[in-house]
Amino acid sequence: MQTRVLTGITTTGTPHLGNYVGAIRPAIEASRRADVDAFFFMADYHALIKSDDAARIERSRLEIAATWLAAGLDPARVTFYRQSDIPEIPELTWFLTCVAGKGMLNRAHAYKAAVDRNTESGEDPDAGISAGLYMYPVLMAADILAFDAHKVPVGRDQIQHIEMARDLGQRFNHLHGREFFVLPEALIEEQVATLPGLDGRKMSKSYDNTIPLFAGGSKPLREAIMRIVTDSRLPGEPKDPDNSALFTIFRAFASGPETAAFRQALLDGLGWGDAKQMLYQRIDADVAPMRERYAAFMADPLAIEAILQEGARKARAVATPKLAALRDALGLRSATASPAKAAAPKAASKQGKAPRFASFRDAEGNFRFRLFAADGEELLLSMPFADPKAVGALQQRIRQLGVAAAVTRVQPHGLALELDGERVASTPDYGDATRRDEALPRLQAALGQLAAQD
Ligand code: TRP
Repeated sequence: MQTRVLTGITTTGTPHLGNYVGAIRPAIEASRRADVDAFFFMADYHALIKSDDAARIERSRLEIAATWLAAGLDPARVTFYRQSDIPEIPELTWFLTCVAGKGMLNRAHAYKAAVDRNTESGEDPDAGISAGLYMYPVLMAADILAFDAHKVPVGRDQIQHIEMARDLGQRFNHLHGREFFVLPEALIEEQVATLPGLDGRKMSKSYDNTIPLFAGGSKPLREAIMRIVTDSRLPGEPKDPDNSALFTIFRAFASGPETAAFRQALLDGLGWGDAKQMLYQRIDADVAPMRERYAAFMADPLAIEAILQEGARKARAVATPKLAALRDALGLRSATASPAKAAAPKAASKQGKAPRFASFRDAEGNFRFRLFAADGEELLLSMPFADPKAVGALQQRIRQLGVAAAVTRVQPHGLALELDGERVASTPDYGDATRRDEALPRLQAALGQLAAQD
């Protein structure tokens, strides 16, 4: 079973060493695991809440995409896209807005902090606060719920947002009586050290204490390292590695033995100037090859664009059928589409006018089933199972899920049904994309009818 891991990166700044160690490197490592289906995206709609500087947003989107690709993200393995290329996200934002309690949004930390600042300075509580900031958690919930993500790696400051996404998903599921959305969990990497900045506080843009990752080449990296604050112990005096930002940063890049040797050298009186030089060399050994790839990507925005367009296509292969099913469940149906529930009066099943499962044993002796529409059209063929009970359980599960919770993934010429990140059944090969798209409402209608019979 694959776990879908999804995370967003707000496109306002230029990535620094703390972003690399705390977010980029662990996310890319996780994405290489066979049991992880990674979705990473640039949260450029969120960036609009923080910045109205178009040039800065544009530059940041490019820099962040180039950074992740240069750092080793494999776009063939990971679904890597821009939020603003996925129209299903703002559409789902509205559906979730309609179930979001205003009181819940009043309690969001970022909004509350802005209100508190206003109150302290004697202003109107909502002075200068946009509805965008207020709605930030709903947009973020849509990012997550549109893709049925199981795990969301985030910093501690984002835990409340993940809880709100769960809350909204749950509320929607409850209101509409089905398991529409996977309820996501925050993934807080305990072992990943938050990197200290130049002054020893957490490395952060807002403290202005960052060390650049790629920007400007190796010179700004070296210059920043030389500015790391140390105590005034002289060369020859023993240093205290455990209270040194410099040592903590070294450890984030070095192997165990390298770290032990560096620690010993500090205890033996290594001068801070030499220690900084060693730190620079250690970091640059990792960063230099990535920096070259970064420069190549930055020089070729069209290559990045092509990668992101392909990522958007893969992301929409999940989100488009999901939103189509949600629209249907909410009553936003076209009169030409067969209304999923109305078409399934209970009596119909007695006359055999309902979709049905048919189980069989295939040539290899495995158990499978087909799903037929009410008119007899074959809609799905399941994967093979050694255990006949698994086939029965799967049919039961599909009945319970119904149209909105079943995850359909668009393939070049067909559709696949997924459960818990695993493909469980596929449609026939329709030969082209048009016939495949025409088949989607028929499959969804059948799933809706099955659920209605339940
Ligand atoms: N709010 C997140 C941050 O500032 C970025 C983000 C937007 C995000 N949408 C997301 C993270 C969805 C995880 C999942 O870090």
